[in-house]
Amino acid sequence: MNTNIITTDNFTRSWIEQVHTRSAALIKNGFQATLSGKIITTCFFEPSTRTRLSFTSAAQRLGASVLGFDSVTSTSTTKGESLEDTIRMVSNYGDVIVMRHPEAGSADRAAQVAGVPVINAGDGANQHPSQTLLDLFTIKQGIGRLDDFTILMIGDIEHSRVVHSLSTTLKLFNNVEQLLINPLTQDYKPHLNKADIILVTRVQTERFTDKHQADLLQNSYKISLQDVEAMKPTCKIISPLPRTSELPTNIDAVPQAYYFQQASFGVPVRAALLENVLGVW
Ligand code: NCD
Repeated sequence: MNTNIITTDNFTRSWIEQVHTRSAALIKNGFQATLSGKIITTCFFEPSTRTRLSFTSAAQRLGASVLGFDSVTSTSTTKGESLEDTIRMVSNYGDVIVMRHPEAGSADRAAQVAGVPVINAGDGANQHPSQTLLDLFTIKQGIGRLDDFTILMIGDIEHSRVVHSLSTTLKLFNNVEQLLINPLTQDYKPHLNKADIILVTRVQTERFTDKHQADLLQNSYKISLQDVEAMKPTCKIISPLPRTSELPTNIDAVPQAYYFQQASFGVPVRAALLENVLGVW
């Protein structure tokens, strides 16, 4: 059992595999009310669609109830309340806190004062550990293994918490070659035919001080049907989503496109994680 889930740095291979085994069992056998009577609190100081709603769906499918906020505008943060005070209060209202915040290190700060486990649902450009569990589950489903493969990551490498969290965790597996490409400074096309997995991330515009730089990066890559031709037929294109122009809708129907399938795994993987943090297994 893990309590706080703040960073992927302390993940072990065997724990990840247990989360995946439980996720697969939930998909196969359906959900039972293992979290009946529990309250999950979601504190989202930054926008989210998939992460918050998949945690919420997972909690409700397991019989828990959910309360929280999805933007700071309706909270006392706008009155100047500190993160620490907000978290101290929320600790009284539920059994676990799922939190997203624009500042790197905020989840760790929250865990210092919370009286209940904290799950980091993204802290600035730093970490997004539940996404990593989901991405690894997706890779396993997509290519059948977590060892001996090549992953090409294309996009805003510098600001992507998804890339940061996944990249360190992949070191737990054997013979994984990682190619991280910022398309503004390096051409990704010569690498397309080597990859078993291609992770495409959007430009994290909200983390740029110079919006012109964000636009330059955004305009430097767009996966085309011609790019898909160059990929292995068994390759899978994944993305945490949302997408903007980098993943045009005209590639959605190619066999390599796997990002919507990936998003569907969010509920069982986050369900398995909630169960683990709350001591069900
Ligand atoms: C990602 C995030 O918030 O870091 N989205 C997600 O959780 N599915 C990626 C992104 O916003 O680009």
